[in-house]
Amino acid sequence: MKEKRTGFTTRMGAIAATVGSAVGLGNIWRFPYQAGENGGGAYILVYLICILLLGVPIIMSEFIIGRSTHKSMKGAIEELTPGSPFKLFAYVGVFGAVLICGYYSVVCGWVIEYLWTSADGTLLGHTPEQYSSIFTNFIGSPQRCVIWTILFMVLNFLVLSRGIKNGIERIANIMMPLLFVLLIVFCVNSLMLPGSSKGMEFLFNVDFGNLGWEGVVDAMGQAFMSLSLGVTCLITYSSYFNDDSKLMKDAVTISALDTLVAILSGIVIFPAVFSFGLEPGAGPKLIFEILPTIFQQMPGGTIWAVLFFVLLFFASITSTISLSEIPITFLIDEYKISRGKALIITAVLMTAIAVVSALSFSVLSDVKLLDRNIFDFLDYVGPNFFMLLGGLVTAIYVGWILNKDVVHDQLTNGGMHRSRFVQPYIIFCLRYIAPIAIILIFLYYVGVI
Ligand code: PFF
Repeated sequence: MKEKRTGFTTRMGAIAATVGSAVGLGNIWRFPYQAGENGGGAYILVYLICILLLGVPIIMSEFIIGRSTHKSMKGAIEELTPGSPFKLFAYVGVFGAVLICGYYSVVCGWVIEYLWTSADGTLLGHTPEQYSSIFTNFIGSPQRCVIWTILFMVLNFLVLSRGIKNGIERIANIMMPLLFVLLIVFCVNSLMLPGSSKGMEFLFNVDFGNLGWEGVVDAMGQAFMSLSLGVTCLITYSSYFNDDSKLMKDAVTISALDTLVAILSGIVIFPAVFSFGLEPGAGPKLIFEILPTIFQQMPGGTIWAVLFFVLLFFASITSTISLSEIPITFLIDEYKISRGKALIITAVLMTAIAVVSALSFSVLSDVKLLDRNIFDFLDYVGPNFFMLLGGLVTAIYVGWILNKDVVHDQLTNGGMHRSRFVQPYIIFCLRYIAPIAIILIFLYYVGVI
């Protein structure tokens, strides 16, 4: 690792940053709303299967590419398989990352609004129905949404430009366990609400009658979104891993922690949804309706609310930092421009997409793509198309194209450990399960199945 990149100083730093990238709004905002829209239990089961059969193997494929070369996607593919056209998929990753970070920052803006109104005491003190209209009014107000979104973008790029990324990640690594503890407290609180068992039944009672093909697509896209897959993020982050870290152990730890946070969020949200008689399929506004209702019935509600939104803010910014690093690193490596220039180009592009997405509930609400407003469209195609496509490419590349000695070397750290079961499992999933599953989804898109 001799290149002069703004790397991580320790192995723990790189791994913790990867957890920081994985854990974010995907777990706490997107997972519950998707589970709610897709009927609960069966969706969650498919999600867990996707984590095991696609998530962990594809994390490994990105880790193998990144750690074996200590380079980001394009340079790594050039080094591993000179002349291979697979390097072109770096563009898909960069494009996907820009789109995703664009709309994701809008939700980060929502988090700032809720943090602000919690702190100034205006958030709490309403009925569950009022929370729904408070949220709808807020996202329908162009100024507020755009201001918070831009503010978030400014903070994000300030962190990236100041070289304090590692510092923020270090703070986030204190915040993350705190967020975890807070979620557990909220779980206990939700489970004690009257009628909470209905919510648990919704979450864990598997009924495939509630899940169509769309639900399967959503579960797969969500697994990719939550683990930060398919947009070359993990290739870039693992290019900073030490040669003696155990990739499989790290991949399993990251997936397990990430999944746990998602499930805990579900246990916070759904018992409360049913207890307060709200609608589980409320969509992207779900947590913004239900969380204030939850905080309000807890003693010291305002403090819980402020604490939670601060922690959620940190979980979100470590994810947007990792998303922003993808185009920045790409521009520097590809066009040999300075980090400053790469940062400005990325910031302008992402902020433009973010502003347009922020307006899709107000002035741009009539603009529809695939029957969705711009925000919902990006929230659909980002994970369900770009991430799956990127995942398909990395699975095929590592499963079929890459020299197996490289894979073996990475899995065993040059023969230091054994990988009797791990390697066949990873290779089998990358060769067959992931490509077949993702291609089936693409066939579904074009109407063949
Ligand atoms: N995994 C993040 C989340 O669950 O919030 C989102 C994300 C971060 C996706 C980084 C992709 C990525 F490259």
